[in-house]
Amino acid sequence: MVDLAQTVFGVTFQNPVLLASGTCGYGEEYADIIDVDQLGGIVTKAVTLHPRVGNPPCRISETPAGMINSIGLANVGLEAFKREKLPWLRENLHRAQVLVNVAGWSVDDYVKVVGGLDDEHGFLGYEINVSCPNVDGGTLFGTDKVALAELVRALRAVTQRPLVIKLTPNVADVGVFAQICEENGADGLSSINTFPGMLIDVETRRPVIGSTTGGISGPAIRPMGVYVTWKVASRVKLPVIGIGGICTASDAMEYILAGAALVQIGTAMFVDPYSAPDTVQGLHELCERQGVGRLSELVGALEV
Ligand SMILES: Cc1cc2nc3c(=O)[nH]c(=O)nc-3n(C[C@H](O)[C@H](O)[C@H](O)COP(=O)(O)O)c2cc1C
Repeated sequence: MVDLAQTVFGVTFQNPVLLASGTCGYGEEYADIIDVDQLGGIVTKAVTLHPRVGNPPCRISETPAGMINSIGLANVGLEAFKREKLPWLRENLHRAQVLVNVAGWSVDDYVKVVGGLDDEHGFLGYEINVSCPNVDGGTLFGTDKVALAELVRALRAVTQRPLVIKLTPNVADVGVFAQICEENGADGLSSINTFPGMLIDVETRRPVIGSTTGGISGPAIRPMGVYVTWKVASRVKLPVIGIGGICTASDAMEYILAGAALVQIGTAMFVDPYSAPDTVQGLHELCERQGVGRLSELVGALEV
């Protein structure tokens, strides 16, 4: 028997496979299709202080190896999240861990969301989105070293729960940003959010996406995601969650070998909603075939 469990942030994840923020709603949306509680966990859609309707359509479209999205952080807002979404997570997820993804435009925004959630039950910790390319100011904190340090310090002061910062790949040296998170009290890092991109309809000569540009995700970004994960894991001691283009166990294993303790699956779930449970099963088989008893032995086991 292969042990896929990973102990991260002081708790045990039964396996390393989580659903990525923005691609699984608040968990309930997948409940009729897969047993979400068999996964390592889920990361909710971004929660902002106030509800947001998001960007104008078209908000998603296929790209040659993935998709482009510009949802614009549409979400129910803090109060409705507590009232309408957290109860389902609390009542239905007993083994899968829950991270709440949080977005904002000022330190105060983030602090109010985290402060407003911290006394609630039903989730483990926070994934702080400082890396959304689809709204004005969405990557402000992820690309400004001083602002990032201030944000992480401010959040550390209002919560004891795991604080995971979701990095943007759109900086010259992501290792520096990882180090800033570590030095200011973060517990972990998620790597990566989407890359900015655009699609143009050559007949109308207009952008396909309503807000002109969007974030590129899916298999196209996997090699970049693995690279960023490797750079980050080589630079800091914090646990890293690898994200970007994972569709199979082999894809997940690339991230794990590069240094990720956990992984998230997003875009692949739109193509095949069994991608996440199949990845868990595939990791079992891959480890078994390679004679590996514990998956944790493989974290950062890349040989260069
Ligand atoms: C439709 C859509 C919505 C997303 N919404 C969020 C979000 O609210 N917060 C966030 O941090 N990331 C969001 N993301 C980024 C994903 O969580 C993930 O980092 C990215 O898609 C790369 O993983 P993937 O290639 O497996 O999809 C979103 C991605 C997609 C495709």
